[in-house]
Amino acid sequence: MAIPQSFLDQLKMSCDIESVVSGYVSLRRAGRTSKGLCPFHSEKTPSFFVYHDTESFYCFGCGAGGDVISFIMRIENLGYMDALRFLAERAGIPFPEEARDDPSLKIKPLIFEINRAAAHFYHDQLKSEAGAPGREYLMGKRSLSTKTITRYGLGYAPPGWDNLRGFLRGKGFSDEDMLLAAVVARGRDGKSVYDVFRNRVMFPIVDIRKNVIGFGGRVLDDSKPKYLNSPDTPVFKKSRNLFSLNFAKNVQDGRLILAEGYMDVIAMNQAGFDNVVATLGTSLTSEQARLMSNYAKEIVIAYDSDGPGRTATNRAVGLLEEAGLKTRILDMKGAKDPDEFIRKFGAQRFKMLIEGARSVTEYQMGVIRAKYDLGSTEQRGAYLQESADYLATVASSMERELYIGKLAEETDIPRDAIRESVNRALRRNLRKARKKEEESFESGRNFARAGHQADESAQDGLLACLFHHPDWRGNIIARLPENALSEAAAAIYQAILTAQLEDDGSLSAVGRRITPEQMSRLAGILARVSDGQLSITPEALEDYFRRMQGGRLQKEIRDSANLSMDEARALAEKIRQSKKV
Ligand code: UTP
Ligand code: MN
Repeated sequence: MAIPQSFLDQLKMSCDIESVVSGYVSLRRAGRTSKGLCPFHSEKTPSFFVYHDTESFYCFGCGAGGDVISFIMRIENLGYMDALRFLAERAGIPFPEEARDDPSLKIKPLIFEINRAAAHFYHDQLKSEAGAPGREYLMGKRSLSTKTITRYGLGYAPPGWDNLRGFLRGKGFSDEDMLLAAVVARGRDGKSVYDVFRNRVMFPIVDIRKNVIGFGGRVLDDSKPKYLNSPDTPVFKKSRNLFSLNFAKNVQDGRLILAEGYMDVIAMNQAGFDNVVATLGTSLTSEQARLMSNYAKEIVIAYDSDGPGRTATNRAVGLLEEAGLKTRILDMKGAKDPDEFIRKFGAQRFKMLIEGARSVTEYQMGVIRAKYDLGSTEQRGAYLQESADYLATVASSMERELYIGKLAEETDIPRDAIRESVNRALRRNLRKARKKEEESFESGRNFARAGHQADESAQDGLLACLFHHPDWRGNIIARLPENALSEAAAAIYQAILTAQLEDDGSLSAVGRRITPEQMSRLAGILARVSDGQLSITPEALEDYFRRMQGGRLQKEIRDSANLSMDEARALAEKIRQSKKV
């Protein structure tokens, strides 16, 4: 399907690569480039660059590169069209008319419509006579106010196999439509269709654009499963959404509270905290951590105080710190989760709990401390060792010193001895990190080199000249030796030509015509031009031609090992000529 150029131009204007990338990577700007830690491979020193002149990015560590569209394709794991759609939505630009005729694109609005109708149905049921058990549960047992129930659009799915189905059919939706939204499921016989949610209180899941994207439903008693969540559908990806972000995103005080479940979020909301989100029945993902970093700088983790809650906390801490978020951890005593805490001790005490949330270091030191009995000399030694190893991972020397002091007091071991053992661990970690980084850099380089021809840099240079100097095009076409380009370089060469002749010749226009791998290579070429490693002067172009010519002659010699004396002499002369400056 053809995408109108006007749409692409508009998209490009509104999706500045730096602002898009900084939603995922924290970038530091220096002149015409910005750099940061590559989101596509793991590294400790930045080799990921954004170039403002060509609106491109390139990672010198892993070789990923391209324009803003390639970036979204990679990081959101989308195809080209979906990446365009994603960017258009982000920029608030309507997707072109022709695209809307595509039947697959009508699915999302249809599912939104069904979900909204279902949410209304559940909510109306809760308010009706049939909803008494649901009201009894939410208002009686869980102390939710009418206001909270309305705010979250909570509902009740009555018992019975086709209440919702009957309602939706009355609105003109077919079983196929309902199956797409996954509010009904197909029976084992492959024919019958029944309501997924039965005799449960319902939690609609709403995205930041106020679309109902799915549901969670809780039983009213102790039966299992306690919560049932919509499966992933074309509009619902559990790993990419957060419950209540539609409210939390408006708070804008730089802080979000991360809870474990629906009821915790809603209870905190009722207690006056709007900046709370929860995952949707799965553990936190890196995508969700990045999503939060769009709205806040600091996260307070308010998970359950039990064993699984602690495991989940440890996992979340890692992901949040990787996303560049400052993280603190709620230290909840006397209650299993925030919902219970608020009901037992009230909103005021909960507010104090949030204010007093501990730093990650304090939390981790507490976890380690709880493992040991300091009465035993042996255990005290092990405690110090584990604490020292942990402190060596803490970046701030001031913070390390603080805890070294605390450890000294607690164990009666001199500060200096503890400090020495922390420093030893620090040196060990540093050695390991360096080694790992060297290895990953090497493997990235080797990967980039693999399968390339000897005169690859000449081919890259030629491509750079063609890209940056469309006015040299005629000259280049006329003089490019036959078979001088590898298959990949030839594909890029063709794409640049077509993009210049039929489009605006921009990186994006080329990108539409090549594979993501080829796009990465082109972005790498442009990165080296920006860095001055690859030259695009007329003299450089002559040099590229010469080197490609040389490469071709050597190939000729290889290909025709049994030349006559005369032929060999002629060839040797040709080579001598070509090497003369
Ligand atoms: P919890 O079991 O901690 O429940 O699950 P909770 O939030 O305290 O719920 P209440 O207070 O008993 O009502 C936390 C989250 O894990 C997911 C849900 O998202 C829930 O909110 N979960 C839990 C499921 O998806 N399925 C389950 O069976 C249980
Ligand atoms: Mn609970």
